Amino acid sequence: MKACRILFLLTVISLVACGPKDALVEENVENAKVQLASLLEVSEAGDTLRIPSTFKDGEVKFVPIDDWVSGFFAGNLWYMYELTGEPFWAEHAACHTEKLDSIQYLTWHHDVGFMVYDSYGNGLRLTGKEAYKDVIVQTAKSLSTRFRPAAGVLQSWSVDRDWQALRGWKCPVIIDNMMNLELLFNATRISGDSTYFHIAVSHADKTLQNHFRPDYSCYHVVDYDPETGAVRGRCTAQGYADESAWARGQAWALYGYTSAYAYTGYERYLDQARKVADYIFSRLPEDLVPYWDYDCPDIPNTWRDASSAAIMASALYQLYSLTGEAMYREKADGMVQSLSSPSYRATPGSNGGFILMHSVGSVPHGSNIDVPLNYTDYYFLEALIRRKNLQ
Ligand code: GLY
Repeated sequence: MKACRILFLLTVISLVACGPKDALVEENVENAKVQLASLLEVSEAGDTLRIPSTFKDGEVKFVPIDDWVSGFFAGNLWYMYELTGEPFWAEHAACHTEKLDSIQYLTWHHDVGFMVYDSYGNGLRLTGKEAYKDVIVQTAKSLSTRFRPAAGVLQSWSVDRDWQALRGWKCPVIIDNMMNLELLFNATRISGDSTYFHIAVSHADKTLQNHFRPDYSCYHVVDYDPETGAVRGRCTAQGYADESAWARGQAWALYGYTSAYAYTGYERYLDQARKVADYIFSRLPEDLVPYWDYDCPDIPNTWRDASSAAIMASALYQLYSLTGEAMYREKADGMVQSLSSPSYRATPGSNGGFILMHSVGSVPHGSNIDVPLNYTDYYFLEALIRRKNLQ
């Protein structure tokens, strides 16, 4: 009798102290442990650390450190540390983060926000390591060289190289660029230099003004005249058509404005995030995992994009935390539920060690179609953390 009472009391105390366990999160963490441990082994098998990006034709593919997805693997390891508390993940995360050291000086594209915030940013948040602050501030300095004052935006792609040189653009800005602002907001917090904050706000304001259609779907690319600031054109690079709604672009917009509101408290960003969410909700299929473009005429006989669902789930948990509106949490829960089902989540030991299947890189470029992607896993793990933190 006495033993029963003690057991009951211990259970109550542990529920009060830790909150009830979330079975969906717990089983996803167990699954992710198996997957990421095997991917880690492959990435550390050679003489140097390699950065896994996807799994195709039976092989894990790797990217060089200047690729836009180079920070996500380190980010995944940090998130595993956050989810499990196991030092093993932090040790490997630090090695994979510090391999990216030279990115802080990279100025030829805008994606350094993704690359350095997902790796060093999470590392700083979880360990407080002072040296990581310098990397974040130097990266913000490098990113700021792409600010075009007359247009008030950060130029996304350079127009003197690769396929971007063939489109006749002068200062292309892609909606994805909203994701680089988090690094700038944090650089101001760390350094006290408000320049980065002002650049981020200017970019978010101009994007709000020029990237969206009346129904709050967004264009992928807006090209500016860097001398006058005039909009030269609006089009797509990775979507089905210039006037279509590329699924990941809408997800970046939702995440970008939710995050911009979290950093600034500016109501106009919250309002935009809500409107983008409404647009997305009106177009999602039943399982809440979108096709790669909401306007692809081949739907339902075309590819799903799990990356978009993972990004949106994470953003919606944050939007729920900021507003308390149940609808956002319900949709996020639905997305996580779908992504955790056998339709999207790989069985342990398969999929090259990546967690989720069925993402799309770029259909028009014929690149990474219907494959796992390291950034899908990143936002999925982030969504799990945000869900867990709601408990
Ligand atoms: N930022 C590139 C992409 O979303 O594919």
